[in-house]
Amino acid sequence: MRPEELNPAKLPLLFKKELELCKIKPGNTVMLLTDLKTRADYVHAAFAAAEDLGAKVFEVKISAPFAMGMIASFGGAGTIESLQTITNAVESSDLVVVFHISLGAPWMQRARKKGVRFLMIVDGPDELERLMSPVGLKEAVTYTRDLIAKSKELQVLNDDSGTNFVAKLGELKTLCQYGYADEPGVVDTWGGAHVSTWANPGSCEGTIVVQAGDCWTFPYIRYVEEPIKLTIEKGYIRKVEGNGADAELFTQFCDGFKKNSGDMEPYAVSHLGWGMHPNAILNQMAIHPYDMDRIHSHSRAWPGVFLFSTGPDDQGGGKNSTAAHVDFPLSGCTVKLDGRTVIEHGTTIDKKMIVPSTYARPIGP
Ligand SMILES: [Fe+2]
Repeated sequence: MRPEELNPAKLPLLFKKELELCKIKPGNTVMLLTDLKTRADYVHAAFAAAEDLGAKVFEVKISAPFAMGMIASFGGAGTIESLQTITNAVESSDLVVVFHISLGAPWMQRARKKGVRFLMIVDGPDELERLMSPVGLKEAVTYTRDLIAKSKELQVLNDDSGTNFVAKLGELKTLCQYGYADEPGVVDTWGGAHVSTWANPGSCEGTIVVQAGDCWTFPYIRYVEEPIKLTIEKGYIRKVEGNGADAELFTQFCDGFKKNSGDMEPYAVSHLGWGMHPNAILNQMAIHPYDMDRIHSHSRAWPGVFLFSTGPDDQGGGKNSTAAHVDFPLSGCTVKLDGRTVIEHGTTIDKKMIVPSTYARPIGP
């Protein structure tokens, strides 16, 4: 593991900048939702930053972070759900800073409807500094979200790999993250810079080829070594082809979540979208292999890299809630919305989606 480079004394400055982006004002209430693994320096920095901005700030610590399928359990998010004093505190806060991933927690969804905004922090200090939301990112990301939301068809093409995929849009949600939580009810991630949409259930058709050299960022962190060819009909992957370990790992993972032999939910198409952060480091996975807190936001923020995923669509408003979720960021794809090319061979060409970089190079040392 490579050592962190950020001067630790800069952390409170970074947190103050982030909370300013989140529009924290004097008199606001900020809850820090931590767990036993949350870094103490992050908690200290968050307290210092919120207090310096004149906010009231307090910490609630649970023993384990939220995990899908553990809602009723104690220790993690189930603890919050079972304690009305805590859910009341969540709902009376202006901003809840969550130091792990809590997407899908029911107490979070209820509070969002009351205008509480949520900021997740899941990356390391170097990544928080590098991916602090640059000028223009929110405008580019929300433009893209709105463009996708009014589109009826998404095409993903790559003549070199054989990818030729189409999804119908319009029935489920399109979401985005631009790196800070500044509007009522929003959930965002510090370092986030991507759009995600979910296809109309049963509408996806075609072929996705995950090429050697593409990344596999969830549940595994690895560069794909042998191509995986996925044949998709009526929203589900019907055939998985490939000679290497990657195709075998994919099939093994999806089959492991089947509730019965006919269960196709693990093989459904999940969120579709792409990253837009000009400062995301393209070779981050090679520099920090297996180090999730250095990869989480980078790998979802690479500009022009199409993120194909499989499994649930309930976050988008669908009915598939399988826990079998896979993320494949695909390089070199052409992406079209209603026939109009917005990404060509992995390069964003819609000028409104392009944000100027504030770093010299898109690759790390
Ligand atoms: Fe995903």
